[in-house]
Amino acid sequence: MPKVYFITAANRPRGLGFTLVSKISALPYTLVFATARNPAAATELNELARERGNIVVVRLEAVSEVDAKAAAALVAEKAGKVDYLVPCVGASISAQRKVRLQTYNRTGFVHPLTGMQHPAYLHQQPIDQFRETFEINVLSQVILYQAFLPLLLKANKPVFMPLSSGAGSASTVYPFPIGSYGMSKAALTYFAVKVNSEQPHLCSFAVHPGVIKTDFYFVILEQHPDLAAGMAMLPDEMYLTAEQSADGMIKVLHEATRETHGGKFLDYKGDDMPW
Ligand SMILES: NC(=O)c1ccc[n+]([C@@H]2O[C@H](COP(=O)([O-])OP(=O)(O)OC[C@H]3O[C@@H](n4cnc5c(N)ncnc54)[C@H](OP(=O)(O)O)[C@@H]3O)[C@@H](O)[C@H]2O)c1
Repeated sequence: MPKVYFITAANRPRGLGFTLVSKISALPYTLVFATARNPAAATELNELARERGNIVVVRLEAVSEVDAKAAAALVAEKAGKVDYLVPCVGASISAQRKVRLQTYNRTGFVHPLTGMQHPAYLHQQPIDQFRETFEINVLSQVILYQAFLPLLLKANKPVFMPLSSGAGSASTVYPFPIGSYGMSKAALTYFAVKVNSEQPHLCSFAVHPGVIKTDFYFVILEQHPDLAAGMAMLPDEMYLTAEQSADGMIKVLHEATRETHGGKFLDYKGDDMPW
């Protein structure tokens, strides 16, 4: 039986989910389930699946328990287990939408890297945006974990590695409107750590993929042009390509054991992240 991977949010060709699926499916003896919320529109993913023959494209609206259960039933039927569960779904609603910019005043302290002042917006950000961010970044991963735990427990050395973010670390407070995103990623990191403590057969840890110019980055710039100058001041070496990030994360995923990785927050190189 090949190693079985379940990777969510694999539809965007520039994104980390797609890049992971592309690289992992090129390895021998692998079967990769790759999700999109609208598989019919995932043109590049479908093309890759046709080329490789070891990718199964699965529909998953990540906040839907019905979809997660249906996906788990499909994997149970086709593979009977999951060795690696890697949720890549993520969103920063406040940063990705143009919202209430009139309340978005730069009043906070100056960030040492960019010279930018932190915008003040949390006091007026609509509560619905917090809910939506937490639904997508935290609850979707809980829903996935609950649906897939029986399949993980059927694998020999299963690994659960959700993509968290350094933005959820209390030691990295970026001057961007991503407060609710950071809060949700902190919760996701905790979730991965807590799962590890509950399941002695499972290696669970959170990973920070680095900073990569995926669609996420470009949408933020589009919605908040005032951030462009500050973001342009970030040193080039801060950015990774999606390929560099995926190569690192795949190495971390394959080297992971409960003893060395379980219950931790690591970066894409496997180094400890502060949180
Ligand atoms: N890029 C970075 O620098 C960076 C840094 C730290 C952490 N991360 C994390 O890495 C992960 C991947 O991010 P990325 O940079 O590759 O971003 P991306 O290209 O914007 O991908 C985000 C993915 O999440 C999917 N998604 C959002 N809400 C969903 C929902 N309700 N149901 C199903 N799918 C949903 C999107 O699907 P649609 O196409 O259908 O919208 C898309 O495939 C995220 O968790 C992100 O927080 C990224």
